[in-house]
Amino acid sequence: MQQIEIIYPDDWHCHLRDGIALTTTIPMATKQFKRVIAMPNLQTPVSDVEAAEAYYHRIMAHVPNDVSFQPLMTLYLKDNTTPDIITHAAQSPLIFACKLYPAGVTTNSQAGVGKLLSLYSIFETMAKHQLPLLIHGEVNDHDVDVYDRERVFIDKHLQDIVKQFPDLKIVFEHITTKDAVDFVLSGPDTLAATITPQHLLYNRNALFVGGLRPHHYCLPVLKRKIHQEALINAAISGNPKFFIGTDSAPHAKSQKESACGCAGIFSHHAAIEIYAHIFDQANALDKLENFTSRFGADFYQLPYNQDKIILQKQSWTIPEEYPYLDESIIPFLASENINWQRVS
Ligand code: DOR
Ligand code: ZN
Repeated sequence: MQQIEIIYPDDWHCHLRDGIALTTTIPMATKQFKRVIAMPNLQTPVSDVEAAEAYYHRIMAHVPNDVSFQPLMTLYLKDNTTPDIITHAAQSPLIFACKLYPAGVTTNSQAGVGKLLSLYSIFETMAKHQLPLLIHGEVNDHDVDVYDRERVFIDKHLQDIVKQFPDLKIVFEHITTKDAVDFVLSGPDTLAATITPQHLLYNRNALFVGGLRPHHYCLPVLKRKIHQEALINAAISGNPKFFIGTDSAPHAKSQKESACGCAGIFSHHAAIEIYAHIFDQANALDKLENFTSRFGADFYQLPYNQDKIILQKQSWTIPEEYPYLDESIIPFLASENINWQRVS
């Protein structure tokens, strides 16, 4: 197959950042996607309705008038989030979901949740108002091996949340392990998962090829090959519980190439082409459209996008860098060839 046409994709998990970063992130996001779920982990977390609505308008100020693009806004849950904040959020047409970061697990998560059990009344209010819960599923326990933090989160927390809240839609974000795949498969229809391109394309060896590779560092960190294979199988399985979520997470080059480098891989320059490349390698191009353009919409009960895009099988080279803030950003697969390119 040399050319495929698919429904315009959505990205059910990404980081757009703020301020002048939006001049880089929004043009790329709008080319790749019609709808994106915008994560709330700004330097000052987006933790109430006013902040989420203001952030929405800052994003939209960078979207050209003739482009249809919808950022779906999220609220950052904190220990002091109240049921009133959730009720208020449910009334906002712009707020789509709430994001749970266990405190300290990743970028700008210091203000995240310390005591998960004390959030149960919040989860109840979310279920009542049908606000989905998006979870960064890792424990932040420095005694737990970094490669085990997702599995331990399932055992210690997620299992119970899923059991206690049968009416709450839960998305286990950017899953990285076979344990997570199995857990999602064994769970109810209210439980789904997003999968990033980097966790499909690479395993943890990629962090150490010929030296330390900061541009392959993200959280949850890449895992062993058996986990990568389980993720590929889930993504191409045709099971609607698994869908796109790039976790595109821009950090300037100097923040990545540092003695204490930031976690995050930027993929919005070519996300859809990279997924096409991966699905083709797995002989599953026929499963791409459902993964990128239907299953997420189905889970969230949204209509499919009307427009289509065309992807062609032709090799091209991803640029070495793009301008970002007052310096540059190194994109995922910088200077590498991939086999699929968008032609419309
Ligand atoms: O690698 C990551 N980067 N993982 C996250 O959970 C957050 C993200 C970011 O915001 O940079
Ligand atoms: Zn993320």
